[in-house]
Amino acid sequence: MSRISPTSPSVTIPDLQRMAEGGERIVMTTAYDSATALIADASGVDAILVGDSVGNVCLGFENTLPVTLAMMAHHLEAVARTRPRALLLVDMPYLTFHLGIEDTLRNAGGLIQKGAQGVKLEGGARRVPVIRALTEAEIPVMGHLGLTPQSFNAMGGYKVQGREGRAAVELLEDALRIQDAGCFAMVLEGIPAELAERITEELSIPTIGIGAGAGCSGQVLVFHDILGLLEGPSPKFVRSYMNGFEQLRDAMVSWGEDVRAGRFPGPQESYMLPEPARELVRAWKPTR
Ligand code: KIV
Repeated sequence: MSRISPTSPSVTIPDLQRMAEGGERIVMTTAYDSATALIADASGVDAILVGDSVGNVCLGFENTLPVTLAMMAHHLEAVARTRPRALLLVDMPYLTFHLGIEDTLRNAGGLIQKGAQGVKLEGGARRVPVIRALTEAEIPVMGHLGLTPQSFNAMGGYKVQGREGRAAVELLEDALRIQDAGCFAMVLEGIPAELAERITEELSIPTIGIGAGAGCSGQVLVFHDILGLLEGPSPKFVRSYMNGFEQLRDAMVSWGEDVRAGRFPGPQESYMLPEPARELVRAWKPTR
């Protein structure tokens, strides 16, 4: 059953900020095409992120580094065409905000023109100049700290961040720096729960956690993880609400069995000739 009525107003950035201030938890998920966006939006999520996780989840890459701006634009446009009620955000993929302010503004501006209401980018204090420039160009920025998948090589793999004292303090400082640079919210990924809670207390903008405990202003999970659509074990922080992979596979198996046994299509899935034409076709004989 949809949680959305046709008159529900669209979610805005100030709405997310009001929710966090009022202690109402923010719900965010990812979507990569029209089908996933329609399902996510009908569930009543507050924000939809066209994440660069599209690389792993939909495009078969091993990590997010090969994802390009053109790929993000393609998936963003499919999601934007569904006109979700949820706030629509998009990831800036690797190498689209690292080569200078002008390049970053052009890349982010292009995504906004394709329907995103804000962009998300990974990184701490080093990103302050681009966050400031984007904000000044009226492009809302969601930050992303902690286990930032685009830093996969530098981090030496997908490891929980901020476990040691100095690293934890650096994350706190990074969070304040990117907030002050203009972020309207930030994702905290793969960090200890107590640290995420402390960051959330210290900030005046919402934090959205993934693998960061329950003390954030909201939570995000990848659409395919929530529905158990990916084969194999998932990370500790994922909770799947169905085994989508097995259920969808079993449905496909049933369809294949019906085809092989001649049970599909049946009369209800077939177009029938109306009576006079049926008779003509039945009576027709080749002339040669
Ligand atoms: O790309 C992505 O899906 C993300 C979220 C998981 C935060 O960055």
